[in-house]
Amino acid sequence: MNSSNRIDLLKKAVDSLERWLFSYPVSDSGIAKQHTAGTLSPDNSSTNKNASEGSVSYNDRGNTTSPRSEEGESGTICTRDAENVLSMLTDRLKGNYPFHSNVYAGQMLKPPHDIAWAAYALTMLINPNNHALDGGPPTSEMEKEVIPAFARMFGFKHTVLGHLTSSGTIANLEALWIARNEHPDKGIAFSKQSHYTHERMCNVLGMKSFQIPLLEDGKWDFHYLESVSDQIGTLVVTMGTTGAGRVEPLHEIINFAKNNGKRVHLDAAYGGYFKLIEQSGLIHPEAWACTAEADSIVIDPHKHGLQPYGCGCVLFKDPSVGRYYKHDSPYTYFSSEELHLGEISLECSRAGAAAAALWATLQMFPLAENGKMAEIMLDCRKAALHFSEAVNQSLYFKMLYRPELDIVVYSVQPSDPRFTASALSRMNTKVFQRGMDKGSDGVFVSLFTVPSSDVSTIFPEIIADTPTITVLRSVLMKPDQQAYVPELVRRLEAAARG
Ligand SMILES: Cc1ncc(COP(=O)(O)O)c(C=O)c1O
Repeated sequence: MNSSNRIDLLKKAVDSLERWLFSYPVSDSGIAKQHTAGTLSPDNSSTNKNASEGSVSYNDRGNTTSPRSEEGESGTICTRDAENVLSMLTDRLKGNYPFHSNVYAGQMLKPPHDIAWAAYALTMLINPNNHALDGGPPTSEMEKEVIPAFARMFGFKHTVLGHLTSSGTIANLEALWIARNEHPDKGIAFSKQSHYTHERMCNVLGMKSFQIPLLEDGKWDFHYLESVSDQIGTLVVTMGTTGAGRVEPLHEIINFAKNNGKRVHLDAAYGGYFKLIEQSGLIHPEAWACTAEADSIVIDPHKHGLQPYGCGCVLFKDPSVGRYYKHDSPYTYFSSEELHLGEISLECSRAGAAAAALWATLQMFPLAENGKMAEIMLDCRKAALHFSEAVNQSLYFKMLYRPELDIVVYSVQPSDPRFTASALSRMNTKVFQRGMDKGSDGVFVSLFTVPSSDVSTIFPEIIADTPTITVLRSVLMKPDQQAYVPELVRRLEAAARG
């Protein structure tokens, strides 16, 4: 969809919604009548404190006023001011990296789909709050509709408890908080490659944490786990690690958990949507086959799910854990017997627009095995496979780990067979920087620190003068990057040449 289609679509929806909005008397601080505002421009903004003309002052109602305010074309008062501000904002936004472009294969950043963008913007005209049902009845309903879709995707056959959150961090915090309530005297165990949030949240919750070492093949060290087993209540299993996109062996961990009475929490914040392609033959299905055996699952629609930021999700297999959220605050405005999402969420105010955007997206991209969302995930996976092969065939690079999802970790290949770990880190950092310095002719990747012993598997003659090495990492979250792989590698090779 190009930008004029996008705007046309949104405009039609806004016109229709505004007919309803304007059937009510409009508040002074509302949508139609904007406040009189100071005329802002780069040369009379707050950085130019001496300029008296055009400066912003506050009237006794707290509204901003300015001697240069004027009637705009549309009858609103500050069209010109808004244009100035947006022009300043536009300039500042150009300071971003080109996350939307195929040349960007750096961090976990995926452009939201137009339908999510339009649904979010449209809903913001009302700005509902999904805390209590009264704050946004339709968007609360939408949130309740999307939760079962995720539950079904993960294989749950019964009703689960779940809700949206503002992020994967908060969703994981809630899961660990429930884990603490279920096993108040026990700690949490997670592997060395799990997201740092788990360690931090154990600290927030005052829980003991255990970091499970990894064996050479990346599997968990179960001997260690057995040695601390009686102190652990919940195991965190990451389905798509942040660094290399690894899927931890849930099928093996579940057996250990069952035999030893442990709860299992899945951090599928990044990888969760890959569940849709477990039967594709392009990912290992064993771990994915067991997702419904977990006690809780986190998935982030704002990562792979085409959503703008502010959309995580947590699911609990046993709906009765909802009892831990119970409160009887006198100042919440729960007005009916129906489930208010604020009663099962640690966060109070949450954007109804996030639920609307996700709901709208799922109408177009349902979470079905052969649906359009699955196609997108398949394309990302293929992009990573093509990219890792191309990198490995290049004279300039070598793949470090075989990608399990859509994250590829690789290194510059030095021409001299004898080189140090520190020199290799410098070479990789140089390629990373040069790629970005070339701007729109360049390529945007990220850096990742790995143990030097891992790199010696591809470069046996390396002199390990440092315990870790900085390597290159690419996250291929855009489906059309599949076709763009040759150009991405060409640009990376140009960065390697200098
Ligand atoms: C596996 C995993 N868990 C949790 C998080 C934290 O999620 P958020 O950034 O949405 O708070 C991330 C973020 O990259 C992640 O990759």
